[in-house]
Amino acid sequence: MKYYEMHEIVYQRIKNDGHLSWDKSVSYDDMWLHGTNTGLKRHLTKIGLSFKDLRVLDLGTGTGTSALYCAREGAKCVGVEVSETAIEIAIKNAHALGLNIEFIVGDILNLHLSKKFDFVVDSTVLHCIVGAKDRTNFYETAKRHLDTDGFLFINTMISEGDMSSRFPKEYFHYENEILWSLGISEITERKTIGEKSYFAHRTLLSKGNQIEEFRQNGFEIVNTEITSDSDVKCLVALLKLKS
Ligand SMILES: C[S@@+](CC[C@H](N)C(=O)[O-])C[C@H]1O[C@@H](n2cnc3c(N)ncnc32)[C@H](O)[C@@H]1O
Repeated sequence: MKYYEMHEIVYQRIKNDGHLSWDKSVSYDDMWLHGTNTGLKRHLTKIGLSFKDLRVLDLGTGTGTSALYCAREGAKCVGVEVSETAIEIAIKNAHALGLNIEFIVGDILNLHLSKKFDFVVDSTVLHCIVGAKDRTNFYETAKRHLDTDGFLFINTMISEGDMSSRFPKEYFHYENEILWSLGISEITERKTIGEKSYFAHRTLLSKGNQIEEFRQNGFEIVNTEITSDSDVKCLVALLKLKS
């Protein structure tokens, strides 16, 4: 099993508990206040765009947190997600809200839709992608699906110095901007650290390294801000394809 396929187990729990999203939203009003949604609204306003008729691709949409929000504001949305259970909940959410969204079960690291978009959105997915090859594939997917004048919107966790003390030592190991976890034995790519077997679970780059990675992958920076809705800070960034 690839490391990111483990999210399916989390979504089965979310479904059983009757939650609406990854962040355990219990109401749609709660979901609209997700940092990605409030960030999207702020950044769109800053550049003088509205959601109306905007073509949005939500990568790793989960239960549709951002796709649902953008569609409610008038955008035409497609959400892609590897977890079948998440997509099942996303479709249920869209029906409950009377929104028309195309939800697809798929791997965003190997995605070839025959459509272009004005906005590609990452709502806390990029930090779930680990390793140079997978991260390059993430940016390639974004580039392949962006129209020439389109924007990539990122909301990703970042690190500040040594993050070791932020994560319980019984389960996590933090080293060189990677968070390793014990996870489940079905995850095949593992490494022994000390006497335990871990898998690479999250990438937490420093702000400077994250911005450098955007540039190296063909994007220029339009706006950035740091938010701190949780213990770990997030970099919210609006990017354009390098001209
Ligand atoms: C932290 S959750 C965020 C979910 C959603 N975007 C939100 O804001 O509620 C990260 C999501 O990325 C999805 N994901 C990770 N790697 C993926 C991949 N390679 N293809 C598709 N989805 C992926 C996970 O399954 C999970 O739903």
